[in-house]
Amino acid sequence: MSKKILLLHGPNLNLLGTRQPDIYGKVSLEQINDMAERYARQYGVDLRADQSNHEGDLVDILHIARNWADGVVFNAGAYTHTSVALRDAISAIEMPVIEVHLSNVHAREAFRHHSYLAPVCVGQISGFGWRSYVLGIDALLGHLGVKTEPTL
Ligand code: DQA
Repeated sequence: MSKKILLLHGPNLNLLGTRQPDIYGKVSLEQINDMAERYARQYGVDLRADQSNHEGDLVDILHIARNWADGVVFNAGAYTHTSVALRDAISAIEMPVIEVHLSNVHAREAFRHHSYLAPVCVGQISGFGWRSYVLGIDALLGHLGVKTEPTL
């Protein structure tokens, strides 16, 4: 059976493309989702994307993912730095989650240096703009045993 993954975006990421483009880039969320779907599809993987500005909705979306997805690529936005509820949801669903950020959170304000989610994620990718998502998807596919490396 082919793998299925969830690409999940948290608060304010619906504004990508127009929101502080010097920090987050000029690519819209729709363009990122489209690119991500096509990237996954070339490996026969079904990627579905979702976004919410609400913490509880993100918890619900993660719970539902347990019923259909093999793993999650998650940019939780500011909730990364505040949310015990999202950390608990990631622990509860017992599936691999890759934490992703467009900006390098470690090079920014001190309050962005701590992630509640990182300890319960497979790993964190931060600082590569829209490419962070490609790297995150590739990392998840590798973790799931989907071969993405070029033939050497
Ligand atoms: C972000 C970094 C967070 O600190 C910030 O609150 C965001 C976006 C990123 O992708 O760089 O909303 O997750």
